[in-house]
Amino acid sequence: MVKLWRCEICGDPYIGDEAPSNCPFCGAKQKYIKEFKDAQVNFDVELNEKDKVNAEYALKVEVSNTTFYFCAAKKVKELEGQKLFKALGKVEAEHASVWKKILKLDEIPKGDDTCSVDFKEDLEDSHARETRAIEFYKKAAEESENPRVKEIFEAFVEVETDHLKLSEERLN
Ligand SMILES: [Fe+2]
Ligand SMILES: [Fe+2]
Repeated sequence: MVKLWRCEICGDPYIGDEAPSNCPFCGAKQKYIKEFKDAQVNFDVELNEKDKVNAEYALKVEVSNTTFYFCAAKKVKELEGQKLFKALGKVEAEHASVWKKILKLDEIPKGDDTCSVDFKEDLEDSHARETRAIEFYKKAAEESENPRVKEIFEAFVEVETDHLKLSEERLN
């Protein structure tokens, strides 16, 4: 029977018979997707100095990666590349939106990243970006003493690891 679900990481709702394997918006794993009535979603967290610095940096990373992926989605000539980078751009935009809410900002800043017209070069850039994001999120998760902030950092380590696999598969 169709149900209303909600992702506990990004807070977005999803309608479907089953919980999806990954949140269609932020990519979080199924363990974070609950029936709406059971979902615990909180963006009103008290950030200590370290978490604030890390959340601000995370926002920068996500804005930069969003801008890069949407650029690549427009520039590469391969249809699969266009769609892959579009999908990745949408997920990174959702990540930026999570940090915006955590940081209580009115809007998401604009990025100025560029990209290549060459699919392979963009896959290499994607690989480097995701590697850096994973390393940073791992460190930030370890440094955080706030369970909610830690949870988001940890969930995003898994999502960015999925992204890394997508480029690896195509570069090998
Ligand atoms: Fe991301
Ligand atoms: Fe990513």
